[in-house]
Amino acid sequence: MKIYLNGVEVEATENESVGTFLLKRRQQVLRKTRFNDQPRGMFCGIGVCFDCIVTIDDIANQRACITQLRSGMRIEVTS
Ligand code: FES
Repeated sequence: MKIYLNGVEVEATENESVGTFLLKRRQQVLRKTRFNDQPRGMFCGIGVCFDCIVTIDDIANQRACITQLRSGMRIEVTS
């Protein structure tokens, strides 16, 4: 299936989370902290820490680790 990562169309596998998809692409930095601009990425992997928040379909603060990939999804990450 096709999804969009930072505006670029890419091929993705069904039945995996956004977090797994991003890790497979070696996208380790998903956001920067608000005050010190420190990089954050997947940490707990179970929806507890909020380090993996990304923007999905123009909705900010979605947890990549617990969000299922869908065809046509638009994911925005900070790098
Ligand atoms: S990695 Fe902790 S909430 Fe996603």
